[in-house]
Amino acid sequence: MQRVLAVMGGALGILLFALLIIVAGSHLQDWQTKPSAGVTNYTPIEQKGRELYVSLGCVYCHTQQVRDKNYVDIARGWGKRPSTAGDYIYDRPHLLGTMRTGPDLHNVGSRLPADIWHLIHLYQPTAVVPNSIMPPHRFLFTTVDKNLIPPGKQAVPLPKGTVPKGKTILATDDAIALVAYLKSLSHQ
Ligand code: HEC
Repeated sequence: MQRVLAVMGGALGILLFALLIIVAGSHLQDWQTKPSAGVTNYTPIEQKGRELYVSLGCVYCHTQQVRDKNYVDIARGWGKRPSTAGDYIYDRPHLLGTMRTGPDLHNVGSRLPADIWHLIHLYQPTAVVPNSIMPPHRFLFTTVDKNLIPPGKQAVPLPKGTVPKGKTILATDDAIALVAYLKSLSHQ
């Protein structure tokens, strides 16, 4: 009986030790993590865009992690340095991603800083990237009569032939928020 108790006690001890190292150890590392230089928390509009990024499944085709120089990431211009824990300090959930059907987006805000580019790209990717296989996200836009543009709204300057005759394309608040989030992705 005493032996059984000793074995069980030993097993429990090993389990608790492993738990301490794995759970407490990684939390301890987390506490020491500081935001990387220039990384600030998301503004409300960027946060809304981030939630859309999650709900629209952008993460299934795009990563947000630059690997070190033994890989092609830096050579491809996806970042100047490898990503570090401090880059993700405000990210809940993390959107590291696993698939790279499209380019990595960890620094897309510095690579492509123009709102207009993103709006055109979301409406019709092939208008700015010939042969793009990224799906268009037209539901993030509204189509209105050319002479009925509401005050304060700006037409998305799409190339000829993309917009139905007499119509113009306006970005919804969702499209604007998504672009604000994309532009916030900068970890130099
Ligand atoms: C089915 C896969 C797929 C999905 C889903 C997808 N993309 Fe893409 N994306 C691509 C591909 C492929 C490219 C490269 C061609 C291009 O630039 O259009 C790309 C390019 C991009 C680029 C340009 C990056 C660069 O460095 O040139 C941005 C920004 C982008 N996607 C944002 C998004 C956002 C935001 C979403 C979600 C709303 C999304 N993508 C969903 C496949 C995808």
